Amino acid sequence: DKKITIAIDGFSSTGKSTLAKQLAKELGYVYVDTGAMYRAIAFFSMQHGYINADFFDKESLINSLPAIRLHFQFNADLGFAEMYLNDENVEKEIRTIEVSNFVSKVAEIPEVRTKLVEQQQEMGKNKAVVMDGRDIGTVVFPDAELKIFMTASAQTRAQRRFDELIQKGDTVTFEEVFKNVEERDYIDTHRSSSPLIKADDAVEIDNSNLSREEQFELVLDLVRQKQ
Ligand code: C5P
Repeated sequence: DKKITIAIDGFSSTGKSTLAKQLAKELGYVYVDTGAMYRAIAFFSMQHGYINADFFDKESLINSLPAIRLHFQFNADLGFAEMYLNDENVEKEIRTIEVSNFVSKVAEIPEVRTKLVEQQQEMGKNKAVVMDGRDIGTVVFPDAELKIFMTASAQTRAQRRFDELIQKGDTVTFEEVFKNVEERDYIDTHRSSSPLIKADDAVEIDNSNLSREEQFELVLDLVRQKQ
């Protein structure tokens, strides 16, 4: 089989990472969760007091960027790679609703995007990679052999994210999660620096009424056609 690059983009909580992980496992490809990288930068900004509910010191964050090192390390027990920020495992810390509330503001900064896009291109340069995010098919790998654009209604997505957070023991309300999903969609689609849009050659999948298995089979079929 030919090694290909698979780019999966779409709105928040459409199940991109679940699908991407499943595909990577099936194909023996590397999975890269680019959202985790933006989340790690948001977490760093919070830790250093650069961002809070009514204040964002972009200048300080931009000046700190050269000192921020991100890497993924495969955890065999979990079966996927975890995010490390300056050699510290931040996998748990980056999945909170607080980080979700700030991450899109951090992801708007062009300097942040340039840094992460460069690293993502390096990670995928040998192909055999499944990468998910917002700009993978448009900016990171415009030449990817297969591009998927995932959508689902905001209600469906908020419900999925809410269930996930509750299961982890977070105390959030559905309204809070719904508001966060809508806000992130708004910022992600309206920012001037590589906004979330469907690439012309991406296959759009609305999974509001598809099971995980149906989705997986559908995309695996598309992969086989490209290999
Ligand atoms: O995928 P996830 O929901 O974890 O991403 C968190 C946020 O990171 C997104 O809402 C978006 O603001 C930002 N992001 C991005 N570009 C990517 C991946 C994520 O701007 N490629």
